[in-house]
Amino acid sequence: MGKRILSGVQPSGKLHLGNYFGAVKQHIALQEEGDCFYFIANYHALTTIQEAQELRDNTRDVALDYLALGLDPARAAYFRQSDVPEVTELAWILGTVTNMGLLERAVSYKEKIDKGIEASVGLFTYPVLMAADILIYRSHIVPVGKDQVQHLEMTQDMAGKFNRAFGEIFPIPNYRLDKESKVPGTDGQKMSKSYGNTIDIFAEGKPLEKTVMGIKTDSTPLGQPLDPDKCNVFTLYCLFATPEEKAAMAADYRAGKIGYGQAKKALKAKIDAYFTPFRDKRKELAKNPDYVEDVLRAGAKKARAEAEQTMELVRTAVGFKS
Ligand code: TRP
Repeated sequence: MGKRILSGVQPSGKLHLGNYFGAVKQHIALQEEGDCFYFIANYHALTTIQEAQELRDNTRDVALDYLALGLDPARAAYFRQSDVPEVTELAWILGTVTNMGLLERAVSYKEKIDKGIEASVGLFTYPVLMAADILIYRSHIVPVGKDQVQHLEMTQDMAGKFNRAFGEIFPIPNYRLDKESKVPGTDGQKMSKSYGNTIDIFAEGKPLEKTVMGIKTDSTPLGQPLDPDKCNVFTLYCLFATPEEKAAMAADYRAGKIGYGQAKKALKAKIDAYFTPFRDKRKELAKNPDYVEDVLRAGAKKARAEAEQTMELVRTAVGFKS
C-alpha cells in the first residue's frame, strides 16, 4: 500500500492565486505520489460560517474549483467531511486523551481570542476534530500550510497518547509543508482573503482586468528605470513566466523600457493563458449539477469504508465492543 495522503480544505469562498500556488497546485500534484484523501471541512467551517446557503454555495464552489484544477476523482477520494460522521465520534474519544493545556496553547485559537472573536466550544476543540480527520483514515502525510503545523503536532500528541493507552492503532502522521509561496496581494501584503487583496483565479474579463490594473506600485514616471525586485507586478509575473521571460522583463524594467501599466497587461495575459483551460473546464463541469454531487458521494463512500474500519478497531480498543 502506498502512503496515505490527506488534507482538508475550508470552504471559504473564491480561490485566489495565493491558495493556488501555496496549496492547491501541490495537492493536485500529490495525486501522483500516494493514495489521496481530500475533503471539504464543513464541520470546521461551522465555527465561522453560520449561514446555510453560504456554506452550501462555498462547498459547491470549492468542489468545482478543485475538480476544474485537476483533482481526479478516479485517483483521489474527494468528499464532504460531514458525509463521514464517524469522525465526530472519534473526535469525542480523542478529546478524552487531550489535555486542556494543549488546546489552550493553540496559536490559531489564541489569535482569534486576541482579535476579540467570541470563542465557541467548537472553536476551542477545533484541533481535536482536525486530529480525528487525520487519524480516522490512518494517514501518513498531511500537506498543510505553516499555520497548521501546530495542529499537526497536536495530532501527533493525541495519536501517541491514544496508542499508549489503548494499543497501537494510529500511525503517527507527518506534515508536509506546502511550498512557501511568495504571492503578494494587490496591496503588497501577503495575498489573503482577510486583507481583501486577492486576485481570484476564476475571475476573468473586466473584473480581472480591474483587479490587476489596481495592483499597487510606486509612482515612478514612465520612461524611468524601475526596480523589478521591489515590484509586486513583477513578482506575480514570475509565478507564470519562463526564466527567459523573467530576465527579459527585468531588463526592460531596469532600462526604463516598460511602465507599470504595460507590465500589468503582460501579467493579465499570463494569468489568462494559464487559467483559461481551467476556467473552461469549470464552466463545463458546472453545466451538470449532478456531477459534483456524484463525485462527493462516491468519495464519501470510499472514505467512510476506511473510517468504519478504523472505528471498529477503536471501539474495540476502548472497550465499547469485545
Ligand atoms: N484547519 C485546516 C485549515 O484551516 C483545514 C483542515 C481541517 C485540515 N481538517 C484538516 C487540514 C485535516 C489538514 C488535515 O486549513
